[in-house]
Amino acid sequence: PASTRLLPQGDLEVGGQALTSLAGHFGTPLQLLDETEVRHRARAFRQALPEAEVVFAGKSLPCRSVFRWLADEELSLDVCSAGELAAARTAGIPAARILMHGNVKTDEDLEAALSYGVGRIVLDSFDEMDQLAGTAQPVLIRVTPGIDAHTHPAVTTGVDGQKFGFPLDTVPDAARQTAANGLRLVGLHCHLGSQITRVSVYEDAVRRLIGLGLPIEQLDLGGGFAAPYCVGDQPFDLTGFANRIRAALAHECTRQRIPLPRLVIEPGRAIVANAGVTLYRVIAVKPGFVAVDGGMSDNPRPALYGARYTARLVGRHTRAPRHAVTVVGRHCEAGDILAQDVPLPDDVHAGDLLAVPVTGAYHHALASNYNLVGRPPVVGVRDGVAQLLVRRETEEDLLRRDLIPA
Ligand code: LLP
Repeated sequence: PASTRLLPQGDLEVGGQALTSLAGHFGTPLQLLDETEVRHRARAFRQALPEAEVVFAGKSLPCRSVFRWLADEELSLDVCSAGELAAARTAGIPAARILMHGNVKTDEDLEAALSYGVGRIVLDSFDEMDQLAGTAQPVLIRVTPGIDAHTHPAVTTGVDGQKFGFPLDTVPDAARQTAANGLRLVGLHCHLGSQITRVSVYEDAVRRLIGLGLPIEQLDLGGGFAAPYCVGDQPFDLTGFANRIRAALAHECTRQRIPLPRLVIEPGRAIVANAGVTLYRVIAVKPGFVAVDGGMSDNPRPALYGARYTARLVGRHTRAPRHAVTVVGRHCEAGDILAQDVPLPDDVHAGDLLAVPVTGAYHHALASNYNLVGRPPVVGVRDGVAQLLVRRETEEDLLRRDLIPA
């Protein structure tokens, strides 16, 4: 996070709190979130695109405090299950500002959405349209624009031949059927993928969706804006995006002779990823490997997407030479790797503290109980105050659902 400061004795400060003292107080592994950084990034989106609606993709960090911080920054919220909606509802997020997504919305999801009265539901199939028929629900149609976002295949969602959305050639029919089913069509949506670095793919999406020639109130281009993870990664060019999308939208609407729709975007990662830091305790060191007290249960992203991370020693100075090691976790798989080619000092030893930055997005969200390991707490830091936002999972939590029939 931007609020990181180097302290004496090799310690680091985030949000005005020393990492060593946070680890001492809350234990490890520990997920930290810099509230100021989250708010700052939300504002950056709003300032770059003051005319647009910015919707936070709740799946990237489903935590009620974060939902509140972002509602406070006047962002809307996207949820994709009854569970995420329950988090939003109980955090007090107004229904009108919630969008519901998902390629599979179960009866439970749709009932929860309708009974809370969410502002918009993003339709993903004709079957879903049948389920909503007669409800007068405002909807967007999720379009498969057939655009390759040039990102990891597991998070590429705008190409043909994947499970999301209505193929482009079926959209005019889908639009007609929304009206026939009594639904209120407010716009078109697409989501091209995640960790996208090229602005041009969003311009293509504007051309394809507006190119359908349908007069719409809203054009939702989804999320996907890349976050920088390692030194040398470029942050997403938000100003370039704003300028080029504005121009493409104006041009295409003039060509189609349709009024300019309101732009909607759904960033998740780009708002929260860089606000997160995870602290781990070193448990064992072997030639080439440093093993810590977390792993793929709190960060499956290297295993799932080949995601790259870095790590640094925190809390002591050393002049020992550095050599590249692999930081591994505690789980019973060789693929349980947190970071590769990390230049750690040769005298790194059990008991040392390691900080892994850029862990705010899809870490808490993707964490599991693999090997019956409890999930780490989430602690928010701001102006020298640390607050527990999600507590650490206990042994009792872990065993609660396991019933031994008499
Ligand atoms: N809108 C929709 C409809 C989405 O499905 C997503 C993410 C977003 C917005 C936000 O995308 P973002 O701005 O965060 O890239 N677990 C994967 C990422 C999965 C993304 C799922 N959808 C990862 O850890 O990389």
